[in-house]
Amino acid sequence: MTDPNPARGDSAASAAAPGTPPADSLVVEGDNLAVLRALLPAHRGTVKVVYIDPPYNTGNAHVYRDRFGTSGPVTGAAGHAEWLAFMRPRLELAREFLREDGVLFLHIDDRESAYAQILGHEVFGEHNSLGTLIHQRAKGGGNARMFVRGHDYIHIWGKDAEQVAPFVTEKKPPARYETIDGRRMLVDDDFLRVSFGRYRRGEERRLMYEDIETVRGSAKKAEVDARLATGDYMLRPWGDPDPATGERRHAVLRLTPAEQATSKLYSIIRVMNADGSADLDSLGLGGVFGYPKPVELLRILIESQTWSDPDAMVLDFFAGSGTTAEAVMRANLRDGGRRRFLLVQVAEPLRTAYSSTGGRIMAAAPTRGPGIAGPTRGPGAAEPAGASAAFATISAFCAERVRCAAAAHEEAGGAPVSVRFLGQDEL
Ligand SMILES: C[S@@+](CC[C@H](N)C(=O)[O-])C[C@H]1O[C@@H](n2cnc3c(N)ncnc32)[C@H](O)[C@@H]1O
Repeated sequence: MTDPNPARGDSAASAAAPGTPPADSLVVEGDNLAVLRALLPAHRGTVKVVYIDPPYNTGNAHVYRDRFGTSGPVTGAAGHAEWLAFMRPRLELAREFLREDGVLFLHIDDRESAYAQILGHEVFGEHNSLGTLIHQRAKGGGNARMFVRGHDYIHIWGKDAEQVAPFVTEKKPPARYETIDGRRMLVDDDFLRVSFGRYRRGEERRLMYEDIETVRGSAKKAEVDARLATGDYMLRPWGDPDPATGERRHAVLRLTPAEQATSKLYSIIRVMNADGSADLDSLGLGGVFGYPKPVELLRILIESQTWSDPDAMVLDFFAGSGTTAEAVMRANLRDGGRRRFLLVQVAEPLRTAYSSTGGRIMAAAPTRGPGIAGPTRGPGAAEPAGASAAFATISAFCAERVRCAAAAHEEAGGAPVSVRFLGQDEL
């Protein structure tokens, strides 16, 4: 790092706002092997989630180097061996950062997937494997010779699989949420039924409160009354008024606080990679970094293991454009959490010729701003980035993305994001 900026190391995002929590997220520029070694003494056993999206060894032209093995096709033994040799010490270190209930997500496509899985089994122990998610990243299109490939793999290991909680996600529609007495609740009005089994269209299958005793007996009625008294259930007028009495009957609603309304994560997660480029566009940073992961995917993965742990630390040491940092912010915005992120990205030249503009050569522009440590706002701030801005390194781009995302997070009502930006030599 060559930046002499006196603001180095300060939180660009929080800008010393009153009430700012201590600087507790970190973006480090450097080779992740050296950086992880340097950070380990202070962070051993502290990380709940590691997400990594390493180079896939495609051999394709990319904004970052994506070929291992010095000669020959990347699919040959030498290419795999070099990729494995690169990954092994990094995975071994990553394991040391994890809490006993921590997990590591390893995102990869099918070139190295099998090798990655065996490597992970060796490092974590096969008994600590938690399985593989499918990330559906695209739909249709393409001129594939055999078939159109629209998915990647996310292999998962726990530091100790026995201690890892189930992976959860918010209940999706038809689940219905309502704000009741100022609290967001999942409302289920269809759990108490006249009888179970098949229903004919148009037939009311809900058991109305007024019929509980007749249909299910007095014990059931007493149970429902008890839960109405505690507020777990509530009654809602239902259907047309009785023509004779003019009175309406009532459905029984089961209420679950939204933060407790979860389903188990499904093993196929569908979030288009194109959304990742749109995420950068919306920060004014589009067209620079090719194939960033979508924030929403990372948000789902992170929340799946931190739903009840909103103070957790998340580590990504192949940070790329910094998607993981923005996903941590998004998760915090949703539940008011204070999750922190620790990102590592090497100062690799950003080959904009292979940017997400699909190989269009970007107009040459001066190296942007003060590098990783410079503030976006306040004295010494660079002008906001646009798609035409050039970044000398991926780490500089990553740092700028984190700053922009933090500013957007605050504008959306999130708590100030306190981040330190450091170089490897400052650890
Ligand atoms: C597939 S990209 C990650 C993309 C990222 N998930 C995103 O959404 O933007 C892999 C990244 O790892 C970085 N990388 C490769 N070797 C590294 C190393 N030794 N230390 C740190 N970063 C490295 C590359 O520069 C590249 O940015």
